Amino acid sequence: MTTHSDSMPIENTSNNEHFQDVLARGLADPSRRALLRRGVGLSAATVLPAVSGCASSDEGGLKMLAEPLSAAQLKFTPVTKSVLDTVVVPTGYTARVIHATGDRLFSTETAYGNAGLEADDWSRRIGDHHDGMEMFYLDANGKVTTTATARAVLAVNHESSADAHFFHPNGQTSGAKTGQKFSQFGAWDDGVRPALEVDKEINHHGVSVVELNITNGAITGYKLDAPLNRRVTPNTVVDVRGPAAHLDGIRQLFATKFDPKGTTARGTLNNCGSGRTPWGTMLTCEENWAFYFNMPAGATVPTDTKLMASRTRYGVATTAPAGAAGRRTGQGWYTPADTGDMRFERWNIAAGGAAAANDFRNEPHTFGYNLEIDPADATSRPAKRVAMGRFAHEASVYSIPRAGQPLAFYMGCDSRNEYIYKFVTAASWSASDAGGGMAAGNKYLDEGKLYVAKFNADGTGQWLELSYDAPAIRTYSAFAFANQAEVYVHTRIAADAVGATKMDRPEWGAVNPANGEVYFCLTNNNSTNRKPGTTDAANPRAYADPDGVKGSGNPNGHIIRFRETGDLATATTFKWDIFLFGAEEDMDSTNVNVSNLSANNALSSPDGLWFSQATGILWIETDDGAFTDETNCMLLAAVPGAVGDGAKVTITNSLSGSTATQETFVGGLLGEARLKRFLVGPKGAEITGVAESADGKALFVNIQHPGENTAALGSNPTFSFESQWPGNGTTSTATTYGPAGRPRSATIVITRTDGGVVGR
Ligand code: FEO
Ligand code: CA
Ligand code: CA
Ligand code: CA
Repeated sequence: MTTHSDSMPIENTSNNEHFQDVLARGLADPSRRALLRRGVGLSAATVLPAVSGCASSDEGGLKMLAEPLSAAQLKFTPVTKSVLDTVVVPTGYTARVIHATGDRLFSTETAYGNAGLEADDWSRRIGDHHDGMEMFYLDANGKVTTTATARAVLAVNHESSADAHFFHPNGQTSGAKTGQKFSQFGAWDDGVRPALEVDKEINHHGVSVVELNITNGAITGYKLDAPLNRRVTPNTVVDVRGPAAHLDGIRQLFATKFDPKGTTARGTLNNCGSGRTPWGTMLTCEENWAFYFNMPAGATVPTDTKLMASRTRYGVATTAPAGAAGRRTGQGWYTPADTGDMRFERWNIAAGGAAAANDFRNEPHTFGYNLEIDPADATSRPAKRVAMGRFAHEASVYSIPRAGQPLAFYMGCDSRNEYIYKFVTAASWSASDAGGGMAAGNKYLDEGKLYVAKFNADGTGQWLELSYDAPAIRTYSAFAFANQAEVYVHTRIAADAVGATKMDRPEWGAVNPANGEVYFCLTNNNSTNRKPGTTDAANPRAYADPDGVKGSGNPNGHIIRFRETGDLATATTFKWDIFLFGAEEDMDSTNVNVSNLSANNALSSPDGLWFSQATGILWIETDDGAFTDETNCMLLAAVPGAVGDGAKVTITNSLSGSTATQETFVGGLLGEARLKRFLVGPKGAEITGVAESADGKALFVNIQHPGENTAALGSNPTFSFESQWPGNGTTSTATTYGPAGRPRSATIVITRTDGGVVGR
């Protein structure tokens, strides 16, 4: 999500070593330097060694690829940059919309009219801001499987209501000043907001599950009224789950007026990246939830020192200012009068009661997790998997399952200077748990070890365990941890304590099915953090973007990757390099466009990242604001290669006002054969979320927030539209979908007109 992520404050003020400190100790291994010389990239036909061991037969997800993808197998013709208000795909491909914001799940709701007039609360409609998604096939017994392909559901994250002005007849109503409108966080003025508007905005968030129409193997849309159709919203009651030994402590931190015992919580929020499990459930990742809470002007601010320190570290409101000028969070969701269910009051995190169990001061503790959902059982209760840590969760991807060995889940925390984490299950994988639903989730995700990554200058790395037994945590002077439950709920602070490495906004991760290596997008950074002298081996560039939409620091981002020692999920060390640098093709090819990108594959701000199980293609999606004068956001196909296949590169960083410095790092060389642009989206949209059919012939992609830069309104909805996709009548490559008018986020499906596999 461009708008909010880019504007997030830097919360991490700990003294942990930056990569520049790591780099200052130098690239220590001379043999590595000799080996990794610029120009020694992978040839098109290089075959990579496969990981030993074998994946199980039906784990509902990741399997070992029989052979790695070669560059010669990327056969489509790349698409050119585009600023059209449509979806552009290669010649020979077709894109169609599966569903868009506001579509009904059930025929009892009115068809979406696209004028903001729907009177219902949207808990039975597709949410807004389509983001991460997962497709699940079901067998004849309704269990998730990979061996039957006649029936499937699609689960889609709905991240935000940042474009909520499109869903009310006259835009968002501020409250106190009649007729005054606002369109972004922070502009609301303390007035009481209309309950229906707030209900709609709340229910724009969460997850939608719909059953797909599959006719003769082709996916043609979704089914109205299917029994598995479901919305999980911020109001859905969910279980609070964690390790048995620490559950009482966790529940104390979850105690609110809604559930003073903290055994349940309500819903999910800011569902950004997604994940799945080998047993066939979805993990939806809660990212920018910290902004949603308020303390009304003059309210009693809680005095609990640790609670407030944690709010500061997570960016949750710590003051109760009056008026929009002093307000930095929220949309005033607490202001309408409740009807007995406290669905509005919960967003007020002041100390309104005698204790935490009498108010909602702990409500922010109930967000920031991976929420597990069983897509095969619409009546199942989702669960917050607290043992996987609390932060700005951005995707969750698992290691290649091996029978008898634990699983690892890799997770990013998307804010500047935040960390990369992994959770290692206590239980060892058994293929008999495939299709096991929430019970299997309890087995694997409640007990395990949580780690955070530290990157060393010599190309190795360490996983540091976040355990209350670690002296660095038990004796941390900045926060007096009392038990392991606090480590789970204040994860970022525990990671500070053990000395994790600060990264540039870790976005999605992905695991290469050919060799088990783990990739993470580091989407971009600004010159506050990256200027000559504050760069490092893993974040090596500091430069000025000279034209069009200008930026400085690392405005175009890059992708890092690592391989576990021994290819083990349980490894506590790894080796790493850099896979790819984003750049405009006409930037300085020596110091900025290090990956030698051309007009056919130039990209900026890699965000979504996903490996095809059918083809081995690494799909890269962008959420960009730096290259948008020349092209809308895009989807690219890459041939992954392996850690260490790049070159040693030295660049000179220079920015006005700073003394030029040099950086030396490994990796980042890709030719056109290994990276091609596959799709460009409509104006103002981020490309995010990927899923595919089992045969690789249908690729699903999400178009999030087309027209997000549409101008704010007057007192009537006279939008100055940046985009009106998908109802805008374009016929170039994507069929018009739904009523004309306001832009809508949507899931599209891409197929080849000759019926072949996508991308190969
Ligand atoms: Fe929701 Fe970090 O993107
Ligand atoms: Ca994202
Ligand atoms: Ca340019
Ligand atoms: Ca630019």
